[in-house]
Amino acid sequence: MILHYFQLESKLANECLLSILFSSLYNLVMASLERLLDSQLPFSFVAKKRDWIDASYTERLKHLLQGDLDFQGTNGAYASHNFHAFPAKFPPQLPSLFIKQLTQPGDVVLDPMVGSGTTLVEAVLAKRIGVGCDIDPLALMISKVKTTPLDPMLVGKTGYRISHHAQQLLKGNPHDLWRIKAAWTPKTRDFVDYWFMPQTQLELLALSHVIDRLEDASLHQFFQLIFSSIIITKSGGVSLARDLAHTRPHRAKVIYDASGEVLEGMALVTKNNPRLPHISKTLSSPVKEFDKRLHKALDGVRLLSRLKETQTILARANAQALPLASDSVDLIVTSPPYASNAIDYMRAHKFSLVWFGYPIEALGRVRRKYVGGETTGDIRFESLPDYPSKIVQEVHRLDEKKGRVLHRYYSEMKRVLKEMHRVLKPGKAAIIVVGSSVMRGRDTETGRSLADIGESLGFTLSHIGVRYIDRDKRMMPAGNRIDLSSQIQRRMHREFVVGFLK
Ligand SMILES: C[S@@+](CC[C@H](N)C(=O)[O-])C[C@H]1O[C@@H](n2cnc3c(N)ncnc32)[C@H](O)[C@@H]1O
Repeated sequence: MILHYFQLESKLANECLLSILFSSLYNLVMASLERLLDSQLPFSFVAKKRDWIDASYTERLKHLLQGDLDFQGTNGAYASHNFHAFPAKFPPQLPSLFIKQLTQPGDVVLDPMVGSGTTLVEAVLAKRIGVGCDIDPLALMISKVKTTPLDPMLVGKTGYRISHHAQQLLKGNPHDLWRIKAAWTPKTRDFVDYWFMPQTQLELLALSHVIDRLEDASLHQFFQLIFSSIIITKSGGVSLARDLAHTRPHRAKVIYDASGEVLEGMALVTKNNPRLPHISKTLSSPVKEFDKRLHKALDGVRLLSRLKETQTILARANAQALPLASDSVDLIVTSPPYASNAIDYMRAHKFSLVWFGYPIEALGRVRRKYVGGETTGDIRFESLPDYPSKIVQEVHRLDEKKGRVLHRYYSEMKRVLKEMHRVLKPGKAAIIVVGSSVMRGRDTETGRSLADIGESLGFTLSHIGVRYIDRDKRMMPAGNRIDLSSQIQRRMHREFVVGFLK
């Protein structure tokens, strides 16, 4: 009996072992086959074999796109995601979902319009290689810092030294600090004088001067980011701007200091002025805000430091001409700007970039290169598939200029999609998250239009997913009106998640 039991046990064990061995062997063979197909075989053979090997990949992609992509009620503030505000960043759960389901550790994940690096952070957390491009210097800095592990003790100590040293400088001769600003272009100085009170300027000059003297490049960038995060906030941080979140800043008319004393706009401070809360701002000390923001970021620094090493590549590059080899990327997850410059990134970003020595004139030149800009003079227009072409014509009939602006947007997105198709490995997916705009009352139907453009370039459309977002939460542009009827819907906004396969 006992013998029989042992025989049975060992038979079961053998079967179990055999099945494990078989499944590992199967996985090994499949993985090697995939690698081989990725790298060496002629395309026609790849396409044929892929149908069989990647049946599950294709189905998985479709399934993900048809699933819940709203991520309502999830926490997006973990790791380094909350180091710096950024308009229209997507929830980390979104790239994470596609990265975990469609790639393996060591695979290359690209965001060609990386913004604040949400895709890259999720890529490195999942041990993938994150590649990001952008033309915006602040976006690249944020993405770099958010994916670079640092020693939390060193960060804490250096932060303390910076704020201590800045306070010492503020007790000294202010002329030493004003001298820094004297070297800036007159336009840059005018910009700073309009948007920042003199005392705020002095504190910011002291902080930026001390940060600039940090020799370690990673620490230097980290503290530049903390510095920037005290200016670029939903409410405009320590500047006089009231509305940086929507990137259409308005200067406050009534200004209070931290003790409640009116510094400017006394005549408007009357009991029966209903507009008072909408035109006032209470200023806080940049050095104090710097300490607060650093303290807040330390949890993220600790979490990131556990990764020890991350593999990311960041390049200042136009997504219409990516500096990447063909067939080199395993997955793309990106969210391009909206049509018609609905979010003017540079309008907000210059509030902190000027303190790092960027002249306002140079920033203006970068602004013209953003996809979806409003100038159309020297733009190369592309031919478009029927559907987007029809929308462009309709908008053009209503307003010639707007029609050209929309044509610019779809032309630029066509070049971006062409580059995405070139760099992606055959059989792999590109996920594009985008919302529609309304131009002269006409919905630009951006999701469907980009799907058609992508297909005309050789992509296979898997599915267009829809996600609903809280406009306030994602810092959406205030002026991007959409005709929505109910109260709740007015605050909600629809985005499309276009999934392609190469
Ligand atoms: C909606 S944001 C991306 C947000 C990002 N998904 C995140 O979570 O932070 C769009 C980005 O596209 C960038 N962009 C605009 N035109 C570009 C171009 N021609 N080449 C590369 N990036 C560009 C902008 O600078 C901005 O950072």
